[in-house]
Amino acid sequence: MKQIVVTVFVSLSIVTASSCTAENKPANVVVNSATTSSPAQPALPAATFDAMASGRKVYEANCVACHKADGTGGEVVIEGKKLDPDDLTSAKIKGFSDEKILGYIMNGVVDEGMPAFKGKLSEGEMRDVVKYIRTEIQKVPAKAAEPSKANQLAN
Ligand code: HEC
Repeated sequence: MKQIVVTVFVSLSIVTASSCTAENKPANVVVNSATTSSPAQPALPAATFDAMASGRKVYEANCVACHKADGTGGEVVIEGKKLDPDDLTSAKIKGFSDEKILGYIMNGVVDEGMPAFKGKLSEGEMRDVVKYIRTEIQKVPAKAAEPSKANQLAN
């Protein structure tokens, strides 16, 4: 009987020892991860440029007819209806957060003739047009046009 217990103990410890060795393989060691992210971030200006080009396209195709190329709006007759599109360069709209402008683009002010673009434009296109309005139409310095800053202004 004593003999059997010893044998079981020995074989158990062999199993434990071997599984332990298997787990100790250094598979997950990350060698100097700092070298993989370079300190320079050249992707940002390119992305900003793309957003601006896309925003301009969206604006010209969907907003210019009412708000004019320079964003100043004013009375227009569209499909026989007299409308008074807002001046997007006004202090009031400069003070809106990005999210608030986005909300107007998505939901419109349908009673007043501002169409809702939800379903017609993707959210990305609507965000691009907000960037375009900030940068090219309102000429708000790029830093102030960051969503976090714009939200602070509106609050
Ligand atoms: C068919 C004409 C028309 C088109 C096209 C149009 N708008 Fe408007 N927009 C209006 C009118 C009219 C108003 C004023 C609504 C009101 O009186 O509250 C307005 C208001 C706005 C406002 C201010 C909302 C408020 O009440 O403060 C924003 C921002 C705006 N438009 C952005 C846009 C953008 C961006 C586009 C293109 C994606 C666009 N609009 C396309 C007619 C238009």
